[in-house]
Amino acid sequence: MNNYIEIREIIKPFRKSIEVSSDKSISIRSVLLASQAIGKSKIYNLLESEDVINTLKAIKKLGINFKKFKEFYEINGYGIDGYNTKKKITINAGNSGTLARLILGLLVNSKQQIKLTGDQSLSKRDFLRITDPLEKFGVNINTKKNCLPVKIIGSEFLRPIKYTEKLGSAQCKSAVMLAAIKTPGKTIIEAKKSRDHTELLFKYLKVPIKISKKKNYDLIEINGPSNFNGFKYKIPGDISSSSFFIVLALLAKSSKIRIKNINVNSSRTGIIKILNKMNAKISLRNKKNYRGEQLADIIVKSKSNLKGIYCPENLNSSAIDEFLVIFLVAAKAKGVSTFRKLSELNKKESPRLEMAIKFLKMIGVKFKRNKDDIKIYGNPKLELKGKYTISNFRKDHRVFMMSCIAALSFGGIWRIEDKNSINTSFPSFIKLLRYLGARIN
Ligand code: S3P
Repeated sequence: MNNYIEIREIIKPFRKSIEVSSDKSISIRSVLLASQAIGKSKIYNLLESEDVINTLKAIKKLGINFKKFKEFYEINGYGIDGYNTKKKITINAGNSGTLARLILGLLVNSKQQIKLTGDQSLSKRDFLRITDPLEKFGVNINTKKNCLPVKIIGSEFLRPIKYTEKLGSAQCKSAVMLAAIKTPGKTIIEAKKSRDHTELLFKYLKVPIKISKKKNYDLIEINGPSNFNGFKYKIPGDISSSSFFIVLALLAKSSKIRIKNINVNSSRTGIIKILNKMNAKISLRNKKNYRGEQLADIIVKSKSNLKGIYCPENLNSSAIDEFLVIFLVAAKAKGVSTFRKLSELNKKESPRLEMAIKFLKMIGVKFKRNKDDIKIYGNPKLELKGKYTISNFRKDHRVFMMSCIAALSFGGIWRIEDKNSINTSFPSFIKLLRYLGARIN
């Protein structure tokens, strides 16, 4: 089977209702927490993508059994001291930054040395951001030049820390929170706003956590050590996976889409806020609360009068995985769009700000870049006629999917390589595009 696709036609108008893949952040968190609960947990709708399968493989290496049933995964935990490891094990986190960073938080009391590795993309990413705070708990942890492999040996004498998270990274915040549940005493985290799924899960599991929301940061206090019982959880749809379909419907002609049962937690809905400022009129229906998370159907209609905006920096973290597709909308909007302080984009599965710049240049969209800021000069008449090849993007799933949306929205003849990258987060992506009528070879 070829590992590339070809697209030669803009998508025809569609009116459909779809379900996208389950939330990756919550899938990984629920498996990790279930592996540390006392007793059985049942996780329904677990995302079966490579990042989550690697999470299941990781807990198995740590001595935790799980079973797959038709509708759920059952995971059998033995509490926060319940990992049972052989000598000198290696955990391979594959492509997943979330798995790699969060699991380090859970290994602060490990009795054996554990080595953490990853694929080529993950091996280029920064781990100092996580080893720095974890070291302060009293563990022995080191990197190879701030990157993987990381080696960690836990401590029997963990001490609570005071940690200021300045990057707006939910992975760093969550890793420290997970270490805190194993540590006697009060861990205090002052965290720049970022997705709060770990906080909501802790509350649901009755882990002693206190959160004071300040204007620019959250103050989180956790009293450890704290065990919690097995739980049931049904994972909702992922807004990051939805984002490709939101933008496709918005840029298509006379189309409408309903994306059902998506987690629209406000720490994740930056894309909706940004696109609505651009005049998108995206709406939410069937809103409900599930274990502290907000769920809803997302309704998007095509729009031809989109306008450029100044994107407020305080929305960056809640749209961090969506900027690649947001830039496509900016390219087609009337006027200039300005996005600022996007250095964290270059810390992802590929350096995404650099990827976006290469991409905009290739399709002839005017832009100005100044360090971590970018201005995109939109053109409502944007239509492509050339031939485009997308390759060498570190197999970044989101670069692949964004390129498909560009091809189906702007036209041209496209060859997009590394199709298997979608297995990281959204294995059914191409099938869903075809369901909407996209012609993909
Ligand atoms: C994630 C947090 C974000 C995001 C990633 C998933 C998480 O990363 O980009 O895809 O599940 O906590 P950072 O915490 O590095 O910003």
